[in-house]
Amino acid sequence: MKKSILFVDDSRQVLDALARMLQTKRDIWSMTFVDDPLEAWEILQSTSFDAVTLDVNMPVLRGLELLERIKKTEIGRDVPVVMLTGLGDRHLKRQALDLGAADLLNKPVEAEDLIARLQNVLRLKEYEDLLKHENSWLERKIQERTVELYRSRQEVVWRLGKAAEHRDNDTGNHVIRVGCMCRVIAEALDLDSEFVETLFAAAPLHDIGKIGIPDAILMKQGPLSEAERQIMMRHCRIGERILTENAAALRLFDGDGAVPEIRSAVSSRNPLIDMAARIALTHHEKWDGTGYPQSLSGDAIPIEARITAIADVFDALMSVRPYKVAFDERRSLAIVSDSVGTHFDPLVYEAFLKALPRVRRIREQLRDCPRYSPHEDHCDAPDPVCR
Ligand code: C2E
Ligand code: SIN
Ligand code: SIN
Ligand code: FE
Repeated sequence: MKKSILFVDDSRQVLDALARMLQTKRDIWSMTFVDDPLEAWEILQSTSFDAVTLDVNMPVLRGLELLERIKKTEIGRDVPVVMLTGLGDRHLKRQALDLGAADLLNKPVEAEDLIARLQNVLRLKEYEDLLKHENSWLERKIQERTVELYRSRQEVVWRLGKAAEHRDNDTGNHVIRVGCMCRVIAEALDLDSEFVETLFAAAPLHDIGKIGIPDAILMKQGPLSEAERQIMMRHCRIGERILTENAAALRLFDGDGAVPEIRSAVSSRNPLIDMAARIALTHHEKWDGTGYPQSLSGDAIPIEARITAIADVFDALMSVRPYKVAFDERRSLAIVSDSVGTHFDPLVYEAFLKALPRVRRIREQLRDCPRYSPHEDHCDAPDPVCR
């Protein structure tokens, strides 16, 4: 590919002289000569050149101003500009360099000088283009890897949450719905977007501690006895322990063999797991202090747990459990609203109502699939997401 060079000078004679000097380069350089700086500016806004040479002294649009304009355009920012100046213009030369000129040449120009300078800036431009190309390729690769990692992390979290629910809720997208509902409620509360994303990722692990509850209690078809309820309540602390214990042991090994930067990154805390642990411990606390296991009340309950509580209960009410049928929306909403100020934070409830259309859509899109229930063998959902 020929290199394209634009020459701008208000004097036709100068341009003709330049063209003669550079005649031998015609087969490798595609050269455009323009004697009207305004016309040159038109061309420069839509055409990309590999190099530009500008005369400093031009009427109407002076060389320095044209240089400044070029450097402000997306298309011209990285194009090397060689300025042609008079011998004595030291101040102008300094200004040209400050404005981003790649090189300066004194008039009258000699062919050898001009060719040497142009060859230099063209070579530099070629390296820069190559580098830019490689950088954008690398950036794309990093983006792809980041998306892959994010997806894989989220899928592991979801499947871990589902594993914990498998015995009492085996048809369910419950844990995924709770994460999604928490996100829309937190958005309605105008919470910080990084917090919202961490909550979305962490909330599905709220019941991970159910793994430690015996079948006889977890899958019991009727109401729990007081003793059974006491055992059931342990799922909060069990969950917290699963998500916090042995952290030192994990850290000892997960950075093994990694470069120092990765070592120090893995030995710091993990915000997702930290939040999941807080949610596991406190998602059954109640606004008025009558919840478990610590009888926390009000703002002492982390906001992430106050949000998860309403999402979890609403979705549990709307779903089948071993001990209950699915309630319709009217009944579920009535139970939730009866518990505002006692069970639920009134501000979080307000946000829940504001987000209700989105909550409904989440239930619709992530509905439970009867196909996987022991009592059904078909799924009549129009577009089942459960497969
Ligand atoms: P889960 O089934 O996921 O229910 C989560 C929460 O939703 C419950 O927390 C409760 O606050 C709310 N919830 C669920 N169903 C109802 C309902 O019919 N009415 C009302 N008002 N709220 C409801 P909770 O009560 O702390 O229970 C925690 C877990 O303990 C439940 O998780 C479930 O696995 C188990 N559990 C609770 N009650 C019973 C029961 O009567 N029988 C059995 N077998 N398990 C129960
Ligand atoms: C409850 O289980 O707390 C109430 C059930 C209902 O009112 O539907
Ligand atoms: C917040 O804690 O960020 C405000 C929301 C609330 O307290 O319910
Ligand atoms: Fe729970």
